[in-house]
Amino acid sequence: MPTIHHYISDLRAALQPYRTAQRIALVPTMGNLHDGHLELVNIAKRHADIVVVSIFVNPTQFGVGEDFDSYPRTLDDDVAKLATVGADYVFAPTIDEMYPILPPPTSVRAGEITSQLCGQSRPHHFDGVGIVVSKLFNIVQPDVAVFGQKDYQQLAIIKQLVRDLSYQIEIVGAPIIRAADGLALSSRNQYLSESERQKAPILQQELQYLAKQIGDTQQPLEALLAASRERITNAGFIIDYLEVKNAELTAVDYKEINSSAHKQDWVILVAAWLGRARLLDNHLVMVS
Ligand code: PAF
Repeated sequence: MPTIHHYISDLRAALQPYRTAQRIALVPTMGNLHDGHLELVNIAKRHADIVVVSIFVNPTQFGVGEDFDSYPRTLDDDVAKLATVGADYVFAPTIDEMYPILPPPTSVRAGEITSQLCGQSRPHHFDGVGIVVSKLFNIVQPDVAVFGQKDYQQLAIIKQLVRDLSYQIEIVGAPIIRAADGLALSSRNQYLSESERQKAPILQQELQYLAKQIGDTQQPLEALLAASRERITNAGFIIDYLEVKNAELTAVDYKEINSSAHKQDWVILVAAWLGRARLLDNHLVMVS
């Protein structure tokens, strides 16, 4: 079983003896773990000797009216699952332990990259992610940290944070883990009704279709995206965004994917509501 710590000082004391000779990995989570999270731990174990999993439903990344109160908290189950993959430590702090003052007067803002995609409908979300991840990095001081590629924008922001704040931490992006029918695993999938769950893989099918169309045809990207948005909407989703970007998310509008002058990796990103669940997915196309 992993050892659980609820206090920063206890976790720091537990990790201290490993620091000279062993590599420490951090897997930050909000709990309610599924196979996708367990795969993050498996990947972390390949990069480090000691794996710390943080479980903290971070209030600062939820907006007013979002699901902070109802977000599933399942610590005992999570710890049991983590035991099956050999995580060493669980850090499960209280809100007071993480935020002596809430909201914290200090902020960590990643700038332009946060104002697009998820940032448009969740304007303060990435400020909350920025501060909690910075705190976790300072508390655990890992050599490596593993994040899922399903939250593609979050991963890009964390890489920027590490670069700009000079954290000496290797960031590993873990491939999306999917259910057998293609739906990207997410703790929020449990908000789907049975009929919505049947429909949900449409999102990923559409991304695959779109990726092929964008690669194969000379049709304007905007026309392909518009047709795709229409199909997704007709299937019962409310689209937050469906966009194509370059892999670094630095290009605001990447329109010339088929042009040989613009060969670079690109990604299609979608966020859409299906009933109570806001589903995220993406499809990365590596051309370089
Ligand atoms: O991806 C998540 O689960 C959260 O955003 C994270 C990185 C654990 C920060 O709260």
